[in-house]
Amino acid sequence: MDSGTTLYLDLLKKVLTNVIYKDGAQQASWYYFGEGYSEHNRANGEDWPMVAHTMVGLKRLDNLQYCVEKVLADNVPGDLIETGVWRGGASIFARGVLEAHGVKDRTVWLADSFEGMPVTDGSSHPSDRELALHKYNDHLAISLDQVKENFACYDLLDDQVAFLPGWFRDTLPTAPIDKLAVLRLDGDLYESTMDSLANLYPRLSPGGFVIIDDYVIPACREAVLEYREKHGITDEMVTIDDSSVYWRRSS
Ligand SMILES: C[S@@+](CC[C@H](N)C(=O)[O-])C[C@H]1O[C@@H](n2cnc3c(N)ncnc32)[C@H](O)[C@@H]1O
Repeated sequence: MDSGTTLYLDLLKKVLTNVIYKDGAQQASWYYFGEGYSEHNRANGEDWPMVAHTMVGLKRLDNLQYCVEKVLADNVPGDLIETGVWRGGASIFARGVLEAHGVKDRTVWLADSFEGMPVTDGSSHPSDRELALHKYNDHLAISLDQVKENFACYDLLDDQVAFLPGWFRDTLPTAPIDKLAVLRLDGDLYESTMDSLANLYPRLSPGGFVIIDDYVIPACREAVLEYREKHGITDEMVTIDDSSVYWRRSS
């Protein structure tokens, strides 16, 4: 990779996580992230930033870059998708990686309600009811217009970016996606994780990657382990940081 490409992608990661201006964490969240800015949290995706365009942190952006560059190098066919995008930062980065490598024939798909987490009720999975993340929708609901505006700030909003607005259970079954090479799951809940896996994993090419941002959350982990067991998936899960894992689909 030439030095211009490396510099662009490294700078993009720094801007998207805002390790540049070091904004603080939002305080009214589901757990205490500490006061102000923390280098550790921003490296490991352990806060909900006030301003930064992603909450996933530098290590998970490094992992996303690794996965996208590996499928490009190995000619694994398919598009990229993130289910659960918030302000769009991780997806902006995926589009940036394609741009940096001059890739014109792959799309980055963004699936989100663009109104936050689904409200859990009596019919929800027990783990999701316990989490009740919709209580934090003041922080988690980011509109489609805002996400598009964020992409445009980086000059990365074009016809290689496509949006699937709505609940995963409604949008993913009929999403007009043929093949996927990278599947990034970041919907936190059991339901959101299971809907993503059930509808999208069958479209993941062999050699493609699935990234589980929220493996640390018991509800998400339960869905992942259940899906893997049901479908006989034994590909090794690799740790990204204290929260997240990925695996490469062998067949
Ligand atoms: C933790 S945030 C994603 C963080 C993001 N990947 C980033 O780069 O910062 C979770 C997102 O998932 C969305 N979400 C969760 N479950 C969903 C569902 N079942 N249907 C649609 N959107 C969902 C929420 O609206 C929210 O934007």
